[in-house]
Amino acid sequence: TQRVAILISGSGSNMVALAQSMQGDHPARPCLVLSNDPQAGGLAKAQAMGIPTAVVDHRAFKGDRAGFEAELLKPLRDAQPDLIALAGFMRVLSADFVRRFEGRMLNIHPSLLPKYKGLNTYARAIEAGDAEAGCTVHEVTAELDDGPILGQARVPVLSGDTPATLAARILPLEHQLYPLVLRRVVSGQRDFITLP
Ligand code: GAR
Repeated sequence: TQRVAILISGSGSNMVALAQSMQGDHPARPCLVLSNDPQAGGLAKAQAMGIPTAVVDHRAFKGDRAGFEAELLKPLRDAQPDLIALAGFMRVLSADFVRRFEGRMLNIHPSLLPKYKGLNTYARAIEAGDAEAGCTVHEVTAELDDGPILGQARVPVLSGDTPATLAARILPLEHQLYPLVLRRVVSGQRDFITLP
């Protein structure tokens, strides 16, 4: 059974979708939910599911990213994950950190990469007049929101959409796409897939 650590910063809805998928005959299990924010709503959800949790508050390391990442490595060393899933983890990780988990770290990003890396993806898609938006699961490399794309899901952008309405249309697809890609990666499949 492969061990999956899930890194979060917020409500953790993708973490819940991933954790719920890793049951029964699934070839992986969650071994840790790690947050950089002690207030992250996902922490209580992980605890309720019986998943070990840890917090490394980035605010204790102002400007000291190496120090922050050294602390992140401690619970990860204890949990011994085979795979790391970033699920709404909103801190940028250094090339050094990423290299340790080369080919073993996934991320979900709320845009159709390579479009709209970084923040405010929904507003940028609306502003550009795009007909479609969506989400992407990709392998994490040193470059932000770069790395081999493993899966994408698309939704239409509708007239009158706001960032909030567009986000609400994409999020349920994130919850389908991420578990699907995770299961495939754990099974050694990394070829590109699309939803629906
Ligand atoms: C998700 O929409 C995810 O795609 C996005 O944050 C949200 C987290 O929600 N991730 C990023 O923006 C990464 N830069 P969740 O905590 O409910 O899973």
